[in-house]
Amino acid sequence: MFWIVLMLAQATVTQQTDRGEALFFGTANGCSSCHLLKGRGTAVGPDLRGIGRLTPAAIVMAVHSTAAQYVLDVKLKSKETFPAMPGAKDDKTIQLYDLSKTPPELRKMDLTEIESMPNTAQWKHPPAVNKHTAQQLADIVAYIRYAVTGTRQAVDPADAQ
Ligand code: HEC
Repeated sequence: MFWIVLMLAQATVTQQTDRGEALFFGTANGCSSCHLLKGRGTAVGPDLRGIGRLTPAAIVMAVHSTAAQYVLDVKLKSKETFPAMPGAKDDKTIQLYDLSKTPPELRKMDLTEIESMPNTAQWKHPPAVNKHTAQQLADIVAYIRYAVTGTRQAVDPADAQ
C-alpha cells in the first residue's frame, strides 16, 4: 500500500515537471525565448541556475518582481529608445538584446551611437504582464528546480501566487 501511494506521488510530480517543461520551452515567446536551461533556449535574461536552488516562493517572487536589476533604458543619439539586456562589451562596442522585439533581437552597437543607458525605470518582466495561472507557474517553477537540481519535487500552486 505504502509503495503504491509513493509511486502515485512520483507519477504526479513527473507530470508536473513535464507540464512545466512544455510551458518553459513552448510557444514563440515562452521563457526559453529569453532564458537558457539545460542547453536549450536563448540566454537573454540571467542564468537561472542560481535561482533554481531557491524555494518555490522565492523563485515566483523573482518572476513577478517589477524591479529589474540588469535591464537598461537605452537611448541612441538617433533618438531611438528601447529597453535592453546588456551583453559582451569592449572598448568600442556593446552587444544589447533589444527587449522591444519579440523574441529579443541581439544588436551590436558602437558606443559612440549611444546617448545614455541608465538602469530601467519602466521595463517589467513579461510573465508579470502575460499572467500565468498559479498552477502553470507552479509547474514552471517545479521544472526549473528539477532542471537545476536534478530532483523532482512537487510545487503547490498555493506557493506560486
Ligand atoms: C522577453 C524576455 C523574457 C522572457 C520571455 C522571460 N524572461 Fe525572465 N528575465 C528576463 C530578463 C531580461 C530578466 C532580468 C531582469 C532584471 O533583473 O533586470 C529576467 C529575470 C528572470 C528571473 C530572475 C533571475 C534572477 O537571477 O534574478 C527569473 C526567475 C525569470 N526571469 C524566470 C522566467 C520565467 C519562468 C519565464 C517564463 C514564464 C521568463 N523568465 C520569461 C527576460 C525574460
